[in-house]
Parts: sequence; structure tokens; C-alpha cells
Amino acid sequence: MTGAIRWDADGLDMVVRPYERADRSRVRHICVETGYLGAPVGWLWRDAASFADMFSGYYTDVEPASAFVVELDGVVSGYLLGALDARRAWNPAVVAGRHILRRGIAVRAGTAGVVWRTILDGVADVVTRRVDPGVLAATDPEFPAHLHIDLLPAARGRGAGRRLMDAWFARLRQAGVPGCHLDTFAENTSGIAFFESVGFVRAGPPTLVAGFRRRAAPRLHTQRMTRRVPTGESRE
Ligand SMILES: CC(C)(COP(=O)(O)OP(=O)(O)OC[C@H]1O[C@@H](n2cnc3c(N)ncnc32)[C@H](O)[C@@H]1OP(=O)(O)O)[C@@H](O)C(=O)NCCC(=O)NCCS
Repeated sequence: MTGAIRWDADGLDMVVRPYERADRSRVRHICVETGYLGAPVGWLWRDAASFADMFSGYYTDVEPASAFVVELDGVVSGYLLGALDARRAWNPAVVAGRHILRRGIAVRAGTAGVVWRTILDGVADVVTRRVDPGVLAATDPEFPAHLHIDLLPAARGRGAGRRLMDAWFARLRQAGVPGCHLDTFAENTSGIAFFESVGFVRAGPPTLVAGFRRRAAPRLHTQRMTRRVPTGESRE
């Protein structure tokens, strides 16, 4: 995608365009505001800087050419952040490890609980064989790219998600990448419905997530989904 795609959504001026460096702080804000199943993550993880570093840092700072944003009446209100080769993207656990030293997230109120629970969940899940640690780390060579897509509530349901996907698949076609995967919460039923409507299919069963919980405490699961790069727009 070289230029911008503009459309009118019920009187709102909407644009999908390539990411620019000036969008960085808005992207980080949206990452935190949508980080828990599309809702703000602050009740679960109260350190915005480390959260944004874990989930948007690689894409804005290392691979900005694979990032796209949505503007709603001139304000950046969503993004698609991608990596052509998911193995190059930063592992959020490694970024978190760095922030144990830099930002004290293992002792700071508002993050320490999740950090320690992640370690305990992770060890317990492997010891009890509920989770195969190799499963999520493995990347199918048919689907080497991956993405994150998040819109603020006001930008949803207006065709921006589908247009972001079209821009992303155009980038993958241009780069000669055959397919893409993503990991979403299995409990994010509306996110999964969206991904299915743009051609993704579930790959494998849901897997327990370490650390993150729902408000009422039950465990969350991650669901991998895959899609071969289409030859044209995502409706095919
Ligand atoms: C998921 C998300 C990216 C979808 O983007 P969007 O702009 O709202 O979606 P669009 O308006 O482009 O809709 C595209 C298609 O998906 C379908 N769709 C979107 N949301 C849906 C939902 N909740 N249930 C069923 N279908 C849905 C639409 O019907 C539409 O199909 P159509 O084009 O055949 O009519 C956006 O709603 C969002 O950011 N949600 C919160 C964060 C999130 O869940 N991110 C993804 C998981 S990591």
C-alpha cells in the first residue's frame, strides 16, 4: 500500500494508510486501551509503557513498513501491526524480562501479581502437561507472518478492519510471503468472528494462557488462526 484509502462511514471521515513515525504514541495508547479482549487493560496491567513495549514496540520501532493505521475524523483510532516473519518479532516474555529490571514490574503494584502468576501458571501448565511449550513457539512455514489488529470502539464496525486486512495482504503479496497467522484470546468471540469473515480459520485447539485472567478469575485461552495470502481483496 503506497497511499491512503478514504471512505465515508455514516458521515464519519475514515482513512486507512501506512503507519508514520508520528503515529507512535497514538498506537501505544490504543494498544493499552484495547489490550484486554478489546477493552482497556489497566485493571489487569497498570504499567502502560511496558505493556505497549511488549505488544507494539517491535512493530513501530523495527518493522514500521508492515504497520497500518486507521484515522477517524483525522484522529488515529486503530492499527494493524504486522511482522513478515514472526520469528523476528520480540517475544513479549523477553520484553517483560527486560522491564523486570528497567521498570520493576515484578515488584510494582499493578503488574507484580500478573508477572508472578505468569511464572507459576507457566511452570504448572508444563509440569501437568496441560500446555506443550513448543506449540505456540512453533511457526508453520506456510504461515510465517503474523499480525495484531485493534481499533478503539468508535472505529469498529465501519469497515476499517477489512480494509486494514486488505492493506496487510497486499504487503504480504508484494513481499512474496505465502501466509499469515495470529494468536487471539479464544474467549474473544467477536474478534474470532471478524477473523473468520476475512478468511482466517482456527489452527489447533485453544491453549491456556499463563498469567492473564478474566475478572472473575477463570483462565483465558489463546487461539491460533491462519490464512493463506489471497490473490485479491479479502472477500474472495
Ligand atoms: C476485531 C476488529 C479488528 C474488527 O474490525 P472492524 O472494523 O470492527 O470490522 P469491519 O467493520 O471491517 O468488519 C469486517 C467483517 O467482519 C465482520 N465482523 C466484525 N466484527 C464482528 C463481530 N463482532 N461479529 C461478527 N462479525 C463481525 C463484519 O460483519 C464484516 O463482515 P462483512 O464485511 O462481510 O460485512 C475490531 O472490531 C476491533 O478492534 N475489536 C477489538 C479488538 C480485537 O478484538 N482485536 C482482535 C483480536 S486480537
